[in-house]
Amino acid sequence: MGRALKRVVFDEAAIAGRVKELGAQITAAYPAGDLLVLGLLKGSFIFLSDLVREITRPLQVDFLVAASYGDKTFSSGNVRLLYDPETKLEGKHILLVEDIVDTGRTLSRLMDILKARNPRSLEICALLHKHVAQELRYPTRFVGFDAPNEFLVGYGLDHAENFRHIPYIASLQ
Ligand code: PRP
Repeated sequence: MGRALKRVVFDEAAIAGRVKELGAQITAAYPAGDLLVLGLLKGSFIFLSDLVREITRPLQVDFLVAASYGDKTFSSGNVRLLYDPETKLEGKHILLVEDIVDTGRTLSRLMDILKARNPRSLEICALLHKHVAQELRYPTRFVGFDAPNEFLVGYGLDHAENFRHIPYIASLQ
C-alpha cells in the first residue's frame, strides 16, 4: 500500500469509547427539532456510520462532497460542492461531520455555504482536531480527540486513497 505505518495513535477500543460518548453528548444537545447529520465525504464515512448509531434520537443522514479549486497545498480556500444534500436545510439543526480539522480551510468555506441556507442551528463534529487551524472561523462544538500534528490514516482517513479501511488510526512513517 505504499508507505508504512509508524504507530497506532488511537486504537479501535479508544475510538469506539469516544464515539459512544460523542453520541450521548449530541443526543443531549438536541432535545427538540429536526436533526440532519451531514457527512463530508470521503473521509467521514466510517466515523459517521458509527456515530449515528450512538445517537438515540430521530435524525436524518445526508452527505456533502466538496472539491477545492487548484493546488490543495496553496488553496485560496475556494470550495465548491460536487454533491449537494437533497434534503432541505432550512429550519433544521445541521450537524456537519468531519474526520479531521487540519488547516480548517475546507470547513470554513462549507460552513459559509451551509449558513446561507438558514438552518435552525449549524454545528461541527470532528473526530480529530489538530488545533493548528488558523483559517477556521467557526468553533468545533464536538471533538473526538486532539490529534498530534502527524500524517494520520485509517478509520476513513487516507494517504493517496489508501488505508481508509484500517479500523484504527495510525501515523505514517
Ligand atoms: C481532508 C480531510 C478533511 C480536510 C481537512 O479531506 O478529510 O476534509 O482534508 O483539511 P483542512 O482542515 O486543511 O481543510 P480531503 O480533501 O483529503 O478529502 P477526503 O475527505 O476525500 O479524504
